[in-house]
Amino acid sequence: MAATIIDGKAIAQQMQNEMKAEVEELVKKGVTPRLDVILVGEDPASQVYVRNKGRACDRLGVASGTHRVPESASEEEILRLIEEFNKDPKVHGILVQLPLPDHVNEGAVLNFINPDKDVDGFHPVNVGRMVVNEPGFLPCTPHGIQMLLIRSGIETKGKHVVIVGRSNIVGKPVANILLQKKDGANAVVTVVHTAAPDMSVFTRQADILVVAVGRSEMITADMVKEGVVVIDVGINRVEDSSKEKGYRLTGDVDFAGVSEKASYITPVPGGVGPMTITMLLHNTIEAARRTI
Ligand code: GUN
Repeated sequence: MAATIIDGKAIAQQMQNEMKAEVEELVKKGVTPRLDVILVGEDPASQVYVRNKGRACDRLGVASGTHRVPESASEEEILRLIEEFNKDPKVHGILVQLPLPDHVNEGAVLNFINPDKDVDGFHPVNVGRMVVNEPGFLPCTPHGIQMLLIRSGIETKGKHVVIVGRSNIVGKPVANILLQKKDGANAVVTVVHTAAPDMSVFTRQADILVVAVGRSEMITADMVKEGVVVIDVGINRVEDSSKEKGYRLTGDVDFAGVSEKASYITPVPGGVGPMTITMLLHNTIEAARRTI
């Protein structure tokens, strides 16, 4: 079977078009949604992400600000900036781009953001709300994965979802979201990680396989069953002298091999990636709506 490609770019575009109308409605009511992003240091990948977030806000009519802080900044300086945004009623969403430099305590910074402005959904209050299925903010990449499945018409109820990776940003929240007893979820969930002696015992059982490990093309065709739905969250830079930039982007899944067996698969790039920013915009608009 040759897999159907899940076009994340097209689904993201469609959702963003729908959101543009929501922004216009809010603006008519006197509220312009606003996102403020803090970028510490010069990490090249982070700079690209932050630039893309700003552009997406512009396209939708969401106000935004990018606040660049030098790598050498102290934790206190970052907290002071967050405090300013916590207090400012014009700011609905605050995002601190990760990773942070080693001398800054990531947990202390994330926990300092007002949970009602935590559009990344990383604050423990929002993590708790997600686990007990109360309204909060869902983390963007996991929520984007759920939207890809829903908008592709892929049934999750009673299906065996196997998640490879247990990070706080992807693996753990995807498990919690797809486990919930509601539409677009209600799956039987297994989380597998590096301590498993043989991951393929689990991955071969998956009806839906979500991979977020950050290791280029780790999941190969022999590790999946025929007809599996594959969501590849990885985005890895692999040296490639034939490319102008000197590298190419790969997922955590061997796309060429696995797409021969899968029923659906996300490409890298153009799969999960565009959904992350889309769900960030969704949360920012929702944060603004909640202030009315
Ligand atoms: N770095 C990589 N992905 C993310 C994300 O979703 N949010 C933040 N804040 N930083 C990131």
